[in-house]
Amino acid sequence: MEHKLWRCIEEKKTDYIPIWFMRQAGRYLPEFREIRKQNPDFIKLCLNERLAAEISLQPIRRFDLDAVIIFSDILIVPYGLGQKIEFKKGIGPILGDLNFNIILNTKPNDFIEKLSPVYQAIKRVKKDIKEKNLIGFAGSPWTLLMYMLNKESPKNNFDISKVIKNKNLMRDLILKLEDIIFLHIKEQVKAGADIIQIFDSWAGLLPKDKLSEFCYIPTSKIVKNIKSLKTPVICFPKGIGENYIDFCATVKPSCISIDYEVDPEWIKKKLDGMPVQGGMDPKILLGNDNEEIKKNIEKYLNTFKDYPYIFNLGHGVLPETKPETIEYIIQIIRKKNEKSGYSI
Ligand code: CP3
Repeated sequence: MEHKLWRCIEEKKTDYIPIWFMRQAGRYLPEFREIRKQNPDFIKLCLNERLAAEISLQPIRRFDLDAVIIFSDILIVPYGLGQKIEFKKGIGPILGDLNFNIILNTKPNDFIEKLSPVYQAIKRVKKDIKEKNLIGFAGSPWTLLMYMLNKESPKNNFDISKVIKNKNLMRDLILKLEDIIFLHIKEQVKAGADIIQIFDSWAGLLPKDKLSEFCYIPTSKIVKNIKSLKTPVICFPKGIGENYIDFCATVKPSCISIDYEVDPEWIKKKLDGMPVQGGMDPKILLGNDNEEIKKNIEKYLNTFKDYPYIFNLGHGVLPETKPETIEYIIQIIRKKNEKSGYSI
């Protein structure tokens, strides 16, 4: 649908800077924590269509952002493939043992059936929002593979040689993930998602000589399929540094989401007009220094003046962030848009 993010990405409009946040629905919001307290099983919460729709809309009610991202999780895909997942307080996700047979033999219809509350939640949200884009999402094949094999966050413990030791199985798993991730995305689009974001949060773990096989090639196939649905796709290959340029040239997303290690000036010069999203370090929001926050916002706004740019951060909103800080950022972007005389 031709709302503000869509115009920026597909028509490369520069007269309005759309704004939304990765992890805009989450623990920094007291209204989310309230629901979460009563729902200790996180996966069950993601599969509660009424609550998932409600949580997706919480940040919209509070801040009137330009896009809704559906409340779910990238690890819902391994769950749909039969792997056990638990979210432990203070630790993060813990996955069960991986059963290759079950995963490789999961039938598309069974997968869709198991995850149908996600698509139902999208339908509910769609009815409630006008004039806003609805973002569906999935993890990339590599980031999901990494979680499925490592079974916990690689922050605690990770050895790539262990993860990719069985080449044949790896190939089969990646191919299965490519198909099932696209299926999950297609169902989200059918339910009403009009922009897709692919999170490759752990692309930065790959050495340069493995990026093509595990990141660029599998992601390109999914991106091509999403584009065939006439749906724009934003990619977020976090942590790949100078390889952002190769990524964009090979994968050709509709928009590239940058992390806080990417120099905005550098990427703008290299990109040849591809719309850009995000960049600012979410840790800056934890300080109480509004001037520092403003200075950082302006760095991105000045760099991407007259360039298709979506305001967002260089990763998700951290749980310690004050909602007032998010409000402050939105006010700055809003003022900027008013000054440039935007009206739809
Ligand atoms: O952005 C949104 O508001 C939509 C919802 C959303 C969640 N997770 C909800 C969530 C999205 C888009 C995600 C993506 C996601 N999930 C990623 C990619 C983005 C990134 O942050 O790199 C990853 C790697 C995951 C996996 C995941 N889910 C982890 C590692 C954790 C635990 C640690 C953490 O960051 O919270 C989660 C849990 C999770 N996913 C929560 C939420 C609101 C917190 C759950 C809680 O209340 O305990």
